Amino acid sequence: MQIYLSRPDITEKEIEAVCEVLRSPDLSLGPKLQEFESAFTKYIGTKRAVAVNSGTSGLFLCMLALGIKPGDEVITTPFTFIASATSIMMAGARPVFVDIDPASLNIDPAKIESAITENTKAILPVEIFGDPTGFDKIRQIAKKHNLPVIEDSCEALGSTLNGEKVGTFGTMSVFGFYPNKQITTGEGGMILTDDDYLADICISLRNQGRAADKNWLTHERLGYNFRLSDINCALGIAQLSRIEQIKAARKQVAGWYKEMLEDESRIIVPAEPEGCDMSWFVFVVRLTEQFYLEQRNLILQQMRERQIQVGDYFPPVHLQPVMKSRFGYQKGDFPITENVCKSTIALPFYNNLAKDQVAVVCKTLMEVLDNQ
Ligand SMILES: Cc1ncc(COP(=O)(O)O)c(C=O)c1O
Repeated sequence: MQIYLSRPDITEKEIEAVCEVLRSPDLSLGPKLQEFESAFTKYIGTKRAVAVNSGTSGLFLCMLALGIKPGDEVITTPFTFIASATSIMMAGARPVFVDIDPASLNIDPAKIESAITENTKAILPVEIFGDPTGFDKIRQIAKKHNLPVIEDSCEALGSTLNGEKVGTFGTMSVFGFYPNKQITTGEGGMILTDDDYLADICISLRNQGRAADKNWLTHERLGYNFRLSDINCALGIAQLSRIEQIKAARKQVAGWYKEMLEDESRIIVPAEPEGCDMSWFVFVVRLTEQFYLEQRNLILQQMRERQIQVGDYFPPVHLQPVMKSRFGYQKGDFPITENVCKSTIALPFYNNLAKDQVAVVCKTLMEVLDNQ
């Protein structure tokens, strides 16, 4: 039987919450939108929250709200999901990549300052796989250079660093609710900020540039339809209400993997970093140095042939065809990222993954490694 890479976890209560909205007249811009946003400000601790229809839309709106425009540069990581970088390009700006710290796999704070130029207008760091390591340092560097931080927290809802919640390190931060995330709304995202001006612009931008006076057919600026429906919000409210339970369930699954793989010398198992309370997004192991990219790909293929879904999170963003053709990035530009990318294997990981399924995954992985 197939073991999936990811599965959503939707309770009967959550289905009922969605049905309740469907029985009401308020399918969009209704009370559930505000309720979802309030639940987020309460949980994260920021002053404002603006719900949008995806994490990508959220990141793009942050660019626009901060006035990022063609000719500007935004510093980000090449080890992430493509949207961290393409949201910069959507605003006409250039993503300037900075290589990662090989331990945390996050942008290396020590390398950021040398990438800052007079065109740099923001830093967009990502808590990759849920790990907030380095964000305290990034915040200090940004402060020193008077640059806003757009915190891409799409993978990290619920993580903390030295007791501070992810989503509070940036001038603006963004969460994503695609079904593989810690909580889902089907599709969706949330922008968080303490800045009223930025939040108000995002509210207008997500709703066709409408004026704050709510006159439906007055449009003050070029806007978009990035609204999140009340149907999605109802699901999000219910999911967020059990984030601690979700976090604990995922921690348990990560714990089983760690236990079962700790003696396996051919792979590096992710550890919970110092000072962090991790909200696990995925469980990504890394092959040790002796393995080539082609071997890693063969291992992925053989795992899939044995009905275990696995992922290659992530290929280097700077080597994506769109980045090479637009900006001329090439192989060798970010060697640490490239080295990490050839070694990663994302194993099945979700709230309700059972211990015996984790055992099957681990046993299969070891057998596949024996075959290399
Ligand atoms: C780091 C990161 N940034 C941005 C996104 C984009 O979020 P969405 O898929 O909701 O647009 C994702 C989601 O996969 C992500 O993992």
